[in-house]
Amino acid sequence: MTEPTQRKLIIAIDGPAGAGKSTIASRLARKLGYVNLESGAMYRALALRAIEWDVSFDDEEALLKLAQDSSIVLDRTIGGNRVLLCGKDVSARIRERDVTEGASRVSVHPKVREWMVARQREMGIGGGVVMEGRDIGTKVFPDADLKIFLDADPVIREQRRLDQQRVKGVSAEAMAAELRERDRRDRTRAASPLVAAEDAIVLDSTHMSEDEVLDRIEELVEEKSLSRR
Ligand code: DC
Repeated sequence: MTEPTQRKLIIAIDGPAGAGKSTIASRLARKLGYVNLESGAMYRALALRAIEWDVSFDDEEALLKLAQDSSIVLDRTIGGNRVLLCGKDVSARIRERDVTEGASRVSVHPKVREWMVARQREMGIGGGVVMEGRDIGTKVFPDADLKIFLDADPVIREQRRLDQQRVKGVSAEAMAAELRERDRRDRTRAASPLVAAEDAIVLDSTHMSEDEVLDRIEELVEEKSLSRR
């Protein structure tokens, strides 16, 4: 009898900023030969579009229209996603401070979220994906094969963010305050706030190295793959 082919899983990785989701999701996808999709990059791209078109981050209807009229593509590359906004590579620009703030604000709107979730489902439906964000396990793929909620102590997360991105002329205190404010907004918004799905496995990476987190998730993937054969 031939071995049944291994089904390609949908893996959701959610958690707050600075917990290490992007790096872990990207490394995990590479190891498994899966596609890594950074859902946050889509909210970032919309925020950038809003800046370019002078649309208020608070105007839900206008933001929805802007999203519908924009092409936002997550192009899969080895190290993560190249983000194309209406054909233009905005991968670096969307990591800047004004867009980061905007993404956190445009993502509070239910209609914007609904549009994003629909696109994200289309992208991941076939499986073989590691999708990371805030609501992947709760809203985008509530039936994901494996749900990880990656967390870490806020002080550690702030430090990691600072190590990744030092902005000229902005103090460490100001950057930490901005991260805390985005955290607060993500966790307290009415539409799909950041929470661990009931069936998510919570990993606290405060005292874990990146390799340790990756090893643990790989073990979980292996268990899932075996139980699904
Ligand atoms: O993961 P990130 O920092 O690139 O996300 C940018 C913003 O987008 C963040 O403030 C929260 C929001 N976001 C969201 O609401 N839902 C997601 N699935 C991903 C990101």
